[in-house]
Amino acid sequence: MRVAFVGKGGAGKSAIAGTFARLLARAGGPVLAIDSDPMPGLAHSLGVEVTDAPIPDDAVTERREGEEGPRFRLREGLTPVEAVERYAVRGPDGVRFLQFGKLRGPAWALAGSQFAFREIVAGLPDDGWSLVGDLPGGTRQAFFGWGSYARTVLVVVEPTAKSLLSARRLARLALGERPPERVVALANKIRGPADVDLVARRSGLDVVGAVPWDEALAEAERQGLPPVDAAPDSAAVAAVVSLLERLNEEQTR
Ligand SMILES: Nc1ncnc2c1ncn2[C@@H]1O[C@H](COP(=O)(O)OP(=O)(O)O)[C@@H](O)[C@H]1O
Ligand SMILES: [Mg+2]
Repeated sequence: MRVAFVGKGGAGKSAIAGTFARLLARAGGPVLAIDSDPMPGLAHSLGVEVTDAPIPDDAVTERREGEEGPRFRLREGLTPVEAVERYAVRGPDGVRFLQFGKLRGPAWALAGSQFAFREIVAGLPDDGWSLVGDLPGGTRQAFFGWGSYARTVLVVVEPTAKSLLSARRLARLALGERPPERVVALANKIRGPADVDLVARRSGLDVVGAVPWDEALAEAERQGLPPVDAAPDSAAVAAVVSLLERLNEEQTR
């Protein structure tokens, strides 16, 4: 399974992506949760320690003068799987967590890490690993291919005017040059069927799931705890379980 969660900031990408990754890891098989948002979020919802550490510079070699290709490459002999074993943090349920580093210093300081990050997620073998990505709010990274490891892009949409507008723009990912197999909507913070209809109509996307507005999630956030640990029996977590089941089913069909 290879998915990426996109959508407006605050829509619920991190809360849902972290929950989804943990549930997927419990089902067995290696899961890499990928955070390319410079604001932490996914670490909290997974329950891994928040660090700012990028992939270290010794993971990459810089292109020499006159050489072709990207500016940085994974160090010779370092495969994407080994890079994950070495640099991804191990979290609860065995989920692995990789981030490209937080923008504290100058952006160029992270260049090596970001190249490594993209090479790792692009190069992980297709049959074994599941990838669950959490992209930053808005459309920029998504349209620059940061979620291109995903076969299914899930646009997380709240039933608010701004979130719906953002979803409409993100729906155009399906029209790009190398589009993902599917771009679908996941309605979040839903308070009734009318909200789901609104998301379907205004986003123009198929809605593959609806997560109710759930106080338990807000409370988990206040406590800095993953929803799957703090509120395992909540309606919101149950809705993510249903989403996972549905995607699994559609995949094996
Ligand atoms: N279904 C929900 N019900 C209640 N609160 C939610 C729900 N989904 C997300 N939230 C809360 O909304 C806020 C934004 O969620 P977050 O996952 O950080 O958004 P994003 O990653 O899209 O910016 C958080 O406080 C989170 O706990
Ligand atoms: Mg987030």
